[in-house]
Amino acid sequence: MPASSMEELVSLCKRRGFIFQSSDIYGGLQGLYDYGPLGVELKNNLKAAWWRAMVYERDDVEGLDAAILTNPLTLKYSGHEETFTDPLVDCRSCKARHRADHLDEQKCPACGSTDLTEPRPFNLMFKTAMGPVDDGSSFAYLRPETAQAIFTNFKHVLDSTSRRLPFGIAQVGKAFRNEITPRNFIFRVREFEQMELEFFVQPGSDEAWHEQWVENRLQWWDAQGVNRNRIELYRVPADELAHYSKATVDLMYHFPHGVEELEGIANRTDFDLGSHTKAQGDYEISARVTPNKDSNAKLAVQDPDGGGWVVPYVIEPSAGVDRGFLAVLNEAYRVETLDNGSERTVLGFRPHLAPIKVAVVPLKRNHEGIVDKAKGIKQHLQALGLGRILYENTGNIGKAYRRHDEIGTPLCVTVDFQTIEEDDSVTVRDRDTMTQERIAVAALADYVQGYFR
Ligand code: GAP
Repeated sequence: MPASSMEELVSLCKRRGFIFQSSDIYGGLQGLYDYGPLGVELKNNLKAAWWRAMVYERDDVEGLDAAILTNPLTLKYSGHEETFTDPLVDCRSCKARHRADHLDEQKCPACGSTDLTEPRPFNLMFKTAMGPVDDGSSFAYLRPETAQAIFTNFKHVLDSTSRRLPFGIAQVGKAFRNEITPRNFIFRVREFEQMELEFFVQPGSDEAWHEQWVENRLQWWDAQGVNRNRIELYRVPADELAHYSKATVDLMYHFPHGVEELEGIANRTDFDLGSHTKAQGDYEISARVTPNKDSNAKLAVQDPDGGGWVVPYVIEPSAGVDRGFLAVLNEAYRVETLDNGSERTVLGFRPHLAPIKVAVVPLKRNHEGIVDKAKGIKQHLQALGLGRILYENTGNIGKAYRRHDEIGTPLCVTVDFQTIEEDDSVTVRDRDTMTQERIAVAALADYVQGYFR
């Protein structure tokens, strides 16, 4: 069973070093979190799994890592300057600000007053001054989505890789939104990460590709341990679509606080490439796109059948890393009652996501022979390249097992007297079954590799 409340996850994350409130010693900074020693491992593993599936295991996707600070013209022509807003209301009594569409009744959630202003659009983009003179004329935006740099680099990637349609460009990185009311732990924050693919297709094939990507993404989440039975599809109605989208399917996950968006898969048509393109004639873009007057780019491809220039359509699966982290954590969380009546908390991560792959634990913390042997085994397993292998010399095996259950370490290897005095074997303990097996040290690398294969 997943966690019964967000508090359970928040408390475990802090206690075990997954996530901390940012700037905590100064009272925190709202809507910002820092990933601790285990959090950074889980997050990196999730991003690596996405990259593997999107880039390495396909032959039609290239990667990109673009700058976060963004030219205002990019976000002017993308439509974000004008339309990337949420409706804001102010409480005239206590001065608190709220998102109008998050209010259940026309009442201030902070003080209960009904004296609220009319909703007005509030732009979510962060601005920062560029260069030494801060006179407001030279500024950049912190990107509100990673996607725009994929569009503005479209021609560079195309020309340097000789790709033909269909093909995609993938990027993982930070995005920033000045959310009016950040909330629900890492679900809605002001600085977060996205894993975005822009998949460029021939106009007309876009709807079939859209359906295919929805299915592909459900399968991927399932492989991360996020059961597809706990994801609902939400076909976004026309009046709720983002300004660039012709159709969007949201993957709605059962988070501890409610069913909300984990990932959006949008059909962005030729909106972005068209808008960033200076119209130079001989190719068609949608009527709703106003081509750019400020760029020299023609973000189009040559039709291989001799039909002139084509502005591709784009299908965009866009997932939040932080929301993915929360979903994976929630799915992995379980509290079990053991035969002796005691309880153990387990994070049953899929092995490839586990922050620590193997903990190597010496039975006696001060016994030179056992300690040296354990350190040697740690180095040996670390060299396999599976991820983090931890040498843990706490000297209390029972406690070490409990701790590693709670942080999701799949295997614990215990080095004891039998190892060094008798048969050069170790005990391997399995997180899920709690079974213990005696394995020869000479066979340990194969055993561990087999487990993580
Ligand atoms: N490029 C398309 C795009 O940005 P979006 O639905 O606004 O679309 C995509 O964002 C994903 O980014 C969401 O599904 C969510 O997982 C994540 N996301 C968006 N805003 C977020 C926030 N304030 N905090 C955490 N994650 C967020």
